[in-house]
Amino acid sequence: MVVAGDSLLGAASVVVVVVGGSLVVVLVVVVGGTLVVVLVVVAVVVVVVVVVLVVVGSAAWRTSATAGEAGYNTGRTEGSAARAATTMPRTTRDAVSPTCRNLRNIPPCSHLATLISRHPTSTFCQPTRRQRDSLRPMTATGSFAASRFGLLAEIVDQQSYGRSVDRCRQQGIVLPTFAQLADPSSIPVDITASLADIDRNAADPLNLFRVHWYNDLHGGRTDLPEHVVLTPELTGVDSPIIVAFGNRFPMIGAHKVLAAYACLVPRVVTGQYDPTEHRAVWPSTGNYARGGVAISTLMGCRGVAVLPENMSRERFEWLEEWIDNPDDIIRTPGSESNVKEIYDTCDELAQDPANFILNQFTEFANHVGHHEVTGRALERLYLHHRESNPGLRLAAFVAASGSSGTLAAGERLKSDHGARIVAVEALECPTMLYNGFGEHNIQGIGDKHIPLIHNVTNMDGVVAVSDRACDELGMVFNTDEGRTHLTGDRGVDDAVVATLGHFGLSSICNVLAAIKTARELGLGADDALITVATDGAEMYGSEREAMAAGRYATGFGSAEAAAAVDEHLAGADTSHVEMLDEVGRNRIFNLGYFTWVEQQGVELDDYEIRRDQGFWKGVQGLAPVWDDMIDEFNARTGVRSGS
Ligand SMILES: Cc1ncc(COP(=O)(O)O)c(C=O)c1O
Repeated sequence: MVVAGDSLLGAASVVVVVVGGSLVVVLVVVVGGTLVVVLVVVAVVVVVVVVVLVVVGSAAWRTSATAGEAGYNTGRTEGSAARAATTMPRTTRDAVSPTCRNLRNIPPCSHLATLISRHPTSTFCQPTRRQRDSLRPMTATGSFAASRFGLLAEIVDQQSYGRSVDRCRQQGIVLPTFAQLADPSSIPVDITASLADIDRNAADPLNLFRVHWYNDLHGGRTDLPEHVVLTPELTGVDSPIIVAFGNRFPMIGAHKVLAAYACLVPRVVTGQYDPTEHRAVWPSTGNYARGGVAISTLMGCRGVAVLPENMSRERFEWLEEWIDNPDDIIRTPGSESNVKEIYDTCDELAQDPANFILNQFTEFANHVGHHEVTGRALERLYLHHRESNPGLRLAAFVAASGSSGTLAAGERLKSDHGARIVAVEALECPTMLYNGFGEHNIQGIGDKHIPLIHNVTNMDGVVAVSDRACDELGMVFNTDEGRTHLTGDRGVDDAVVATLGHFGLSSICNVLAAIKTARELGLGADDALITVATDGAEMYGSEREAMAAGRYATGFGSAEAAAAVDEHLAGADTSHVEMLDEVGRNRIFNLGYFTWVEQQGVELDDYEIRRDQGFWKGVQGLAPVWDDMIDEFNARTGVRSGS
């Protein structure tokens, strides 16, 4: 295309030269003498100017195209994305949609102006000063497709908004703010008091106020997120490993219900999602779909779960209890890493405008929710333990990536406490570490692609853990034989062993990755690592039955427990660990191009802007903006102030 463009310009200049030259000849013949001399000068000046313009323009274009291509291939970091639009090769610019091309003319790249331009017929609230300030970091995002990826911060459809207000008023629904979920002590006392009478797993809208880390297993609220500090007898490393328990979250017993709420609520308060018209579609490998169905139910909407047919039986049993219409459970082919099949199904569903797809891999609100709520909860845990050990550093936040939403918590821990961010995946599907692929059984993680909402260029490390390790340690942690081995033969504290039932497969994976990280970095007793147990062992009883019938068909006793602990805990070494430099980060970032730009049709600008940390700061700054909108929404329903 660049060559073709140059040829076109070259051809145009030849035409002008020829025309200019002909004009001179004709005038010489017809008029003659003095006049001929004047006209020849004019013609020569015209021709020279045109030729100079063409040559300079063509050279400049060629330079910018080359710079753009080189910039992409080598990867850029800070500030580079903002430059991308001007250095982009012409092929890419031509491929950009007309809307995007027009938006590039918006002076000087105001994000709000961009949003408004994208919705010329909609009625917008005037942004408050706080909103404008918060969005300022996003000015570098240029023409980012805010609507597609759930980043709008204005009401874009007043009618839809009005219907949501009516629905919530009729059903007595109050929406919690992100700030309230981050710090539940700020939840109004009347709501807290009413919650006492509501079962934590009931389909009651008040349970929205339990979508945070400060629950116990019986519906009570705690002062500190429930957690365990794993000790050297179990982990084999001196560093304390702090694990926050996700199975305290209501309804689904996993923190993914937070991601679901985070994704839906901005869509409601911006008037994009209309509960009277839309079915909320929740594509996932299980827990996010369950969370989405729970949140939809609480918010008076219809939810649809899309998940691979081979996910654990417990996930389907839960869905069958919560969903009345069997059509609202859609089984896609394959298992954990078959996300492409989920996307294909969602593409088909999206043909029907009544289906509103809430794709956790592209909804930046997932990132925002964890940054705000999980990040603050984990920070609270670190500060709590630092009180008794003032020398305690936060060395790393370690978390397996499914949608990568949880990893956003690490961004807060990194910016405020210097923690490294270490992403974890299954060794059988090492997408980040080796650009590999494959099947595995660490349900919820490692979906064979790099999510769009993953802030890859802020990562510090990648660790891969085998699913066999998680399966076998799952047996150790959840059998009498295994627990007796740990307390008796290994000297692990009873209180620690008593918590091991709160570790689902990905939780065990996180712990193993934390151990490997501690070893790789040579961390000591004053270097804490923090991670989450997204769900508990109760979600995997059927997997353990399968292990008992298969791998351990001859029995699981102390010898088997000892072998598993030796191999996977004591043997958690520094293999399959990479601490990332810029080359490594960019390698992983660039891999996402094939999914998002080539396969899913994301604009190259939108893809590239994510290299820039300024973009992510802008995204994270949306939490208080949405909170203002939630407060306003609650005020309009009049159910309660909600603040
Ligand atoms: C059990 C489990 N662990 C870990 C994850 C990964 O969390 P995230 O999607 O926030 O990366 C998920 C996601 O669904 C999950 O279900």
